[in-house]
Amino acid sequence: MSYDSSREQLKIKKIHDGTVIDHITAGYALDVLKILGVTGKEGYTVSVLMNVPSKRLKRKDIVKIEGRELEPEEVDKIALIAAHATINIVRNFEVIEKKVVKLPSQIYGMVRCANPTCISNSREPIKSSFLVEDDEDLRLKCHYCGRIMEKGDVLKQF
Ligand code: CTP
Ligand code: ZN
Repeated sequence: MSYDSSREQLKIKKIHDGTVIDHITAGYALDVLKILGVTGKEGYTVSVLMNVPSKRLKRKDIVKIEGRELEPEEVDKIALIAAHATINIVRNFEVIEKKVVKLPSQIYGMVRCANPTCISNSREPIKSSFLVEDDEDLRLKCHYCGRIMEKGDVLKQF
């Protein structure tokens, strides 16, 4: 009797239009949705794959959002929690744009400082500013008070 190897293949439908966020650090797909503010109540068809085998990373997560193209600021935010993510914009089944996320060495206004007495949290019109000390295992240092923020601290804000 022949063995049907196709039964072992994980098949996820291609999307018609929208965004595929690929190569997400394994285990962070739900955090990516949280950062994007996608709750499921907006009506988009969303596919979430977690801990799938990957050639490049050992395991990865993938998120597919149909009918929504991400804005550049949203792409930057994803870099906070998934340093190797690839953003694929899909139109009429074709990937028309592929962006590899990358955190700059300094980020402004994207994250709030967790120190309540930091000047960036005062009523002064001062934008938060962080030095990115590690973009892989996230580590940010506040330019104003020196507070160190890690991935968990950042995720609490979204
Ligand atoms: N994809 C999709 N629907 C489409 C086109 C692509 O869901 N209509 C998904 C693919 O399944 C894949 C991702 O979008 O997960 C990127 O597609 P593609 O660039 O074709 O794949 P690769 O060449 O493997 O991408 P990479 O080199 O970034 O790994
Ligand atoms: Zn601060």
